[in-house]
Amino acid sequence: MIRAAVTGASGRMGKLIISNIVAFDGMQLSAAFDLVNIGKDAGETAQVGNLGVAISDVKDMEKVLKGSATDVLIDFTIADATVVNAPRAASAGVNLVIGTTGLSDEQKHIIETAVFKHAVAGIISPNFSVGVNVFFKILAEASKYLGDFDIEVIEAHHNKKKDAPSGTAIKAADVISATLGGKEYVYGRQGLAPRSKEIGIHAVRGGDIVGDHTVLFAGDGERIEIKHQAHSRQSFASGAVKAAAWVCNAGPGMYTMEDILGL
Ligand SMILES: NC(=O)c1ccc[n+]([C@@H]2O[C@H](COP(=O)([O-])OP(=O)(O)OC[C@H]3O[C@@H](n4cnc5c(N)ncnc54)[C@H](O)[C@@H]3O)[C@@H](O)[C@H]2O)c1
Repeated sequence: MIRAAVTGASGRMGKLIISNIVAFDGMQLSAAFDLVNIGKDAGETAQVGNLGVAISDVKDMEKVLKGSATDVLIDFTIADATVVNAPRAASAGVNLVIGTTGLSDEQKHIIETAVFKHAVAGIISPNFSVGVNVFFKILAEASKYLGDFDIEVIEAHHNKKKDAPSGTAIKAADVISATLGGKEYVYGRQGLAPRSKEIGIHAVRGGDIVGDHTVLFAGDGERIEIKHQAHSRQSFASGAVKAAAWVCNAGPGMYTMEDILGL
């Protein structure tokens, strides 16, 4: 039985991940952390019934993780919290699944260093849905033939999202840039802004949009749009729980969703 803990247990993703852990054959919730609802039952907070697992303060993370024999921690919080909590969990010998977006390169490096130092397995992905990871694969292939086209990444999310542009939009641009060789990124445009050979990245925020990503390849007299739309957060939650089961059997190192999905 895999014992999985969740940081951000009171958040939109954390609650859904707890319900997916409960439904996943061979996995159980071992611990839960957040800044709010401390002491309340994580299952009741997630509306899946009492699980006998109280939400703990992140300050007690190492002690709680060791005491609960946790195998893997799933973290969907904010970047400044993840960069502190993920190394704490790694130092307790716990594998990591990180869904938090907005991590800087330096913050990712801190987490990866902790993963290698403590010989655990880790994955950091801005998007755990199967469809988005296939979308990245299609973008890499399309870019091979469309390097002369103007390329724009347009994303839309709900009005509560804290970071912009989305981690998925940046990853889409990174995938294209890696195929075409080092593209400059331009984030939105205002005033005099003549277009060059950059990738334009644009963020839209409104209502309850779960997550739309469109990549526009525009040439002379034609264009191609490659689009992914998430209808619900379930695709992210089920992917993160599958990743948690996978990293527990992977051995030490950093992994990607491509590894997990065999892409
Ligand atoms: N990788 C993916 O597939 C994917 C999908 C959806 C969302 N996300 C990302 O997941 C993150 C969370 O999204 P959400 O919509 O659930 O946000 P949310 O605001 O609903 O939940 C975040 C939770 O983290 C908690 N938190 C904040 N600081 C903390 C700390 N220091 N220690 C412990 N808990 C802390 C908050 O109290 C809150 O309960 C965001 O970065 C979002 O972009 C990733």
